[in-house]
Amino acid sequence: MYKIAVAGTGYVGLVAGVCFAEVGHQVTCVDIDEKKVELMRSGVTPIYETGLEELMKKNYSSGRIEYTTDFNSAYKDADAIFIGVGTPEQPDGSANLSYISTVARQIAESVEKDCLVVVKSTVPVGTNDKVEQFIQDFLVKDVKVEVASNPEFLAQGSAVQDTLHAERIIIGTESKWAEELLTKIYEPFHLPIVSVNRRSAEMIKYASNDFLALKISYMNDIANLCELVGADIQDVAKGMSYDERIGSKFLNAGIGFGGSCFPKDTKALEYIAKQNGYELKTVKAAIDVNKEQKTILYKKASKRLITFNGLKVAVLGLTFKPGTDDLREAASLENVPLLIEQGADIYAFDPVGAENFANVHPEGKHGKGSITYVANIEHALEGANVCFIFTEWGEVKALTPETYKKLMRTPLVYDGRNIYPVEDMQEAGVEYHSIGRKP
Ligand code: UGA
Repeated sequence: MYKIAVAGTGYVGLVAGVCFAEVGHQVTCVDIDEKKVELMRSGVTPIYETGLEELMKKNYSSGRIEYTTDFNSAYKDADAIFIGVGTPEQPDGSANLSYISTVARQIAESVEKDCLVVVKSTVPVGTNDKVEQFIQDFLVKDVKVEVASNPEFLAQGSAVQDTLHAERIIIGTESKWAEELLTKIYEPFHLPIVSVNRRSAEMIKYASNDFLALKISYMNDIANLCELVGADIQDVAKGMSYDERIGSKFLNAGIGFGGSCFPKDTKALEYIAKQNGYELKTVKAAIDVNKEQKTILYKKASKRLITFNGLKVAVLGLTFKPGTDDLREAASLENVPLLIEQGADIYAFDPVGAENFANVHPEGKHGKGSITYVANIEHALEGANVCFIFTEWGEVKALTPETYKKLMRTPLVYDGRNIYPVEDMQEAGVEYHSIGRKP
């Protein structure tokens, strides 16, 4: 059992902290937000994540995890300090490392015994070298502090499962001491460990995420071509998936990838390449295709409808994917303002994301159009002239084609998630447009 401190209680930090406690380590999670800390102490998770709250309560009551704003007492005698703070994208595509440097400084000023600092946040290649140097420069006590890279591969919505049952743990270290300590910390997880140097570990994270982003953009590109030549992207994907070299996952064409990772990490790697005098053409293509894809249905509908002015528009799903309340880079964020600008009266349904969305677009009139949030999916569809589907929530998948036909004034559906069989919608009398399949 090790004494572990975790800096940052977002998706990466909190989930890591709770899972370390779950396998038996003694964990202190540090956050600057006093209210958030109070909330977590009362057993409430600040993020929506399946299974997280139960594990928080269980490990808090057994005393294996605590939450604090007092970084000094958390860091001073920790065996390892994991950094899981954000690295938001800056306008030029580079990563903002100010949160990391703040934590690094606090660590340097607090530690009183030898300790391993482990960076879980996604950071540009070479950052961990700089973090180590930075800590050395500000170190107050005469102790050994090394930095290791340990990128995170969890996906939102399945973060706890992804951490406890990860396909691999990547550890990037520069000394035997650091490698052995980190390996021992992960031993109770019983997962495959890939041990590499720090820069390779940093690169593995970007290369993995950008490969997945590329896979999605490739399928979206092919989907758009499928429509033009009369092929069906779902059949094409199925046929491709039998080749083990391609695999069956992440072949779903749709409204483009969103979230806090793929959009940010594609732009960041493109930026890193540029900084090094190299043009990363494949990743650039993935970014370009994704940008176009986000509004592809809006453009199709604009041609079909002439105007959205005064139309009731049902929007099903606001979050970037199901199982999360996260809206970052979600297709809804691009399409809703366009629709409102064109005078649409939107009725939006999302089981968990509506509140966050309302912070950006409060209910009511916005310029020409308006937005109303409904808790009941049928209320969004009743009397609607057109429906857009942006997220494949279970509630949306559970709707039958007949429901659209029955409830909508004109059953015209633009589905960015290819939820229903085209034939079923047609048989029910719904005009159905999806991605990469015949209209
Ligand atoms: C992603 C990766 O999947 C994780 O492995 C990684 O650790 C994480 O980023 C991160 O860097 O922190 P996440 O962004 O939570 O996880 O969500 P994904 O499930 O990967 O979905 C991302 C986007 O791609 C969503 O908008 C989703 O709808 C879209 N997507 C995914 C598709 O359009 N098609 C697919 O076949 C799969």
